[in-house]
Amino acid sequence: MLDHRTRMDRAKKEKVEQILSEFRLQEEDLKTIMYRMQKEMDRGLKLETHEEASVKMLPTYVRSTPEGSEVGDFLSLDLGGTNFRVMLVKVGEGEEGQWKVKTKHQMYSIPEDAMTGTAEMLFDYISECISDFLDKHQMKHKKLPLGFTFSFPVRHEDLDKGILLNWTKGFKASGAEGNNIVGLLRDAIKRRGDFEMDVVAMVNDTVATMVSCYYEDHRCEVGMIVGTGCNACYMEELQNVELVEGDEGRMCVNTEWGAFGESGELDEFLLEYDRVVDETSLNPNQQLYEKIIGGKYMGEIVRLVLLKLVNENLLFNGEASEKLKARGSFETRFISQIESDPGDRKQIYNILTSFGLMSSITDCDIVRMACESVSTRAAQMCSAGLAGVINRMRKSRCEETMKITVGVDGSVYKLHPSFKDRFHATVRQLTPGCDITFLQSEEGSGRGAALISAVACKMACMMGQ
Ligand code: GLC
Repeated sequence: MLDHRTRMDRAKKEKVEQILSEFRLQEEDLKTIMYRMQKEMDRGLKLETHEEASVKMLPTYVRSTPEGSEVGDFLSLDLGGTNFRVMLVKVGEGEEGQWKVKTKHQMYSIPEDAMTGTAEMLFDYISECISDFLDKHQMKHKKLPLGFTFSFPVRHEDLDKGILLNWTKGFKASGAEGNNIVGLLRDAIKRRGDFEMDVVAMVNDTVATMVSCYYEDHRCEVGMIVGTGCNACYMEELQNVELVEGDEGRMCVNTEWGAFGESGELDEFLLEYDRVVDETSLNPNQQLYEKIIGGKYMGEIVRLVLLKLVNENLLFNGEASEKLKARGSFETRFISQIESDPGDRKQIYNILTSFGLMSSITDCDIVRMACESVSTRAAQMCSAGLAGVINRMRKSRCEETMKITVGVDGSVYKLHPSFKDRFHATVRQLTPGCDITFLQSEEGSGRGAALISAVACKMACMMGQ
């Protein structure tokens, strides 16, 4: 006979499972999401439907035929997450193509007021960081070529010119949307006046990731980020990129798939928690797909689920702590830590204690179940997007079996203990006839931007500029 307590705990877990079952996606659901994603991608590429498409499919001006590259020192900037990074990268030529080494780098945290003040404040802060970096390494006198990894939706006119369509991921600096970002950077550098830079390329982080992996594996024609935000790019036939003239070769397209769902494509899959996350975000009704997957939001979804379970009297004796009630307090890294617990629940217990919560063994198990439901759904949702991209590529390339490599970066992908495995398995399930290799990128943002700048410099030389 089970004792009373054990029976109670079992019944509790069953009720919790029922509540969490909403997060489960069937293969049919994933296929529906994948087909809708493909439809939006198609609409994003076409001139006629581009404006209204939720997935913008932005041309990057990074092409498939590299013209060789300059060698030397390049400065890379990386803006797009919670930190801003400056990096010095040496690009050289080896037997098997270019190599790149990061020689020095420095991370600067972005103060809240720079993220949400004016664009001038943000770019003044950025050029202050560059100035500090150059001082530290006694390089103020050098006018280096600079590659800028700017991880937001940009409509490019060329590699070094493009307007910010809208901020994402909690950035909100006014006066940047609709403006040329390279121009804002150049202006800020001029305002300071204590160093000079030659800004040669601006790229998305997905693009930098893909390019940095391409030099290790020439089959790498897709780049993906699952970090604070979530996005992918891939090499598309130029003839399908209707926003850019020309028919020969391929161009990298930044899908900006995080915006998927803005035209209602995800409506039947959004849960009450997703709606709250969206409504309380800085960009309501935008980036709905990203809000299911990205690290900026995943912790908050779990927090809302935990509060729901407390309200149903299934967790923490029906009482939440003040800290758990505070918006944004449950960071996504806690999900990784909780799911990494080896089974003795110590890690889970400690995290919950730091939230001022007295937790029983059953509480620890329930919190873990909530984390697993939310992170598994994220991995599966993300799989549907990538499968959409890869199946599209296979179709247009008419290959029986397409061998392809995907370069990946981002904290959720790298740090969560099982996101990767669940993600890989589901992508493979959805892409018959494709042989996919996943390549984890190291410092892809900085190195990729340097490599793209090196190619751009060579082009500029050839054209006598
Ligand atoms: C957001 C940005 C996108 C970026 C992604 C990952 O979705 O809009 O440009 O690639 O985050 O950082």
